[in-house]
Amino acid sequence: MEHLTLYERIGGEAALRLLTDRFYDLVFEHELISRLFKSDKEEIKEKQRLFLTQFLGGPQLYSEVHGHPMMRARHMPHTITEDDAVAWLQCMSAAVGELPIEKELKDELFDRFPRTAFFMVNS
Ligand code: HEM
Repeated sequence: MEHLTLYERIGGEAALRLLTDRFYDLVFEHELISRLFKSDKEEIKEKQRLFLTQFLGGPQLYSEVHGHPMMRARHMPHTITEDDAVAWLQCMSAAVGELPIEKELKDELFDRFPRTAFFMVNS
């Protein structure tokens, strides 16, 4: 299994659809960070699904549609604090926890997020 990407090992497109669906349902309900999300929920789910596909080693879907990710720059219009990053990670942890995959794989997947989330803090 070592030659497979994390994207493939978690279950590819179907798993990322489940993950982004659940994640943004939690984010849009969150008392602290829902304020930041003003776009259409289905649109942001889809953007995140495309991004996570390439972030986890799958096809470069986000770049094909939206160009270079430049994620920190794309987050600059939003005021993101450390508390926001912690809340974002809590939502991600809960969403990852609900995926139909083994505990070790959930941990490996979640481990990909904290560094990136704190990198988005800009305030
Ligand atoms: C640190 C906590 C984070 C906060 C508070 C946050 C917040 C946001 C907000 C407010 C948007 C715009 C939503 C809209 O259009 O209404 C956004 C877009 C996005 N975020 Fe985050 N974000 C965080 C971390 C991350 C991380 C860690 C990733 C990737 C692993 C990520 C990936 C994305 C993507 C792919 C988009 C869509 C970008 C586009 O417009 O094409 N975000 N985020």
